[in-house]
Amino acid sequence: MHILTIVGARPQFVKAAVVSRAIEAYNRDAGARLITETIVHTGQHYDYNMSDVFFDEMEIPKPAVNLSIGSGKHGEMTGAMLAAIEREMIDRKPDITLVYGDTNSTMAGALAAAKLHIPVAHVEAGLRSFNRTMPEEINRVVTDHVSSILFCPSDASAKQLAAEGVTSGVHVVGDVMYDAALHYGGKAAVVKPEAPFALCTIHRAENTDDLGRLGGILEGLAKSPVQVILALHPRTKAVAEKSGVKWPANVRVCEPFSYFNMLGYLKACSFVITDSGGLQKEAYFFGRKCITVRNETEWTELVESGANRLAGTDPERIISAMGWAMNDSAAVPDSIYGNGKAGEKIVDIIKDFK
Ligand code: UD1
Repeated sequence: MHILTIVGARPQFVKAAVVSRAIEAYNRDAGARLITETIVHTGQHYDYNMSDVFFDEMEIPKPAVNLSIGSGKHGEMTGAMLAAIEREMIDRKPDITLVYGDTNSTMAGALAAAKLHIPVAHVEAGLRSFNRTMPEEINRVVTDHVSSILFCPSDASAKQLAAEGVTSGVHVVGDVMYDAALHYGGKAAVVKPEAPFALCTIHRAENTDDLGRLGGILEGLAKSPVQVILALHPRTKAVAEKSGVKWPANVRVCEPFSYFNMLGYLKACSFVITDSGGLQKEAYFFGRKCITVRNETEWTELVESGANRLAGTDPERIISAMGWAMNDSAAVPDSIYGNGKAGEKIVDIIKDFK
């Protein structure tokens, strides 16, 4: 069995690391290379601390090729990826294509494969924000509807697929990011803060491309009861520099963290404020409350379970959510996202796919 894995953006490296490790373990147990994996990196993320550091830390097999597509307008970026991925697929003739999450790289990989009649397996299927202005929502819907195998992180995502008429090839396997948190948790950087702090990331287009929304978030951050450590995404950095955004005095701005650093900061923080999808779950994995500065989230289970609060970008709502995050001690259910064996389950299903 030959699997072609498409990655390109930061969160995909973390997810792919889990499945690559499970493939290696499967081959080791079988005493033969029954599954070959070829990794194709689109180049969507290209800075060392957005890409290479994840391959180094998590010991992800080196991509066979980096397509160096880089940034651009959405159509331009996706179109360039589509053409380049198609060429790779024609040359490499995989039996199956594996894509992760909801980025432009995900959708380009899925579409290129579907057009060549190569079955697509989508890890993190069935997630919906119901906000079609988000590029990620379009990527999710398109990817799910051209996939033959749909790996759902939770029951809610499988239900959503059923509501859209997608019932064949759907498997609830848990969340590979939970596997990653468990496996790499012991390698977290040691972070010893002098004082309590909140861990923050902001990068969604809806927040960075609208200065009103970004301003609302910063106004909220300025009133944080504890210092804010902001791991700054290049998109947000570029917007801030261009528009002369002034960071509040209590916000310490850092370069993007490596995965092990992020785990260290998660373990050490008082709570998380973010618009990232992945970090919402990681906060939960490490027992930290999360304030999501968006109007909706695809990880609805987290909100329902009391682990996450949606605050939008209104400073008052953010400030009130900070009070909740500091003081709320209500128990939150565990194992919403499986038992840490999602990677193994995925390999087990893929290996039998005909
Ligand atoms: C992308 C994904 C988003 C995911 C996020 C994780 C899409 C539509 N969005 O958003 O779902 O949550 O990755 O980070 O695919 N840039 C750099 N250096 C890099 C990478 C990006 O400077 O290493 C710059 C780009 O040039 C661009 C901006 O950051 O100007 C945004 O990059 P892009 O990949 O388009 O989207 P993200 O915001 O990272």
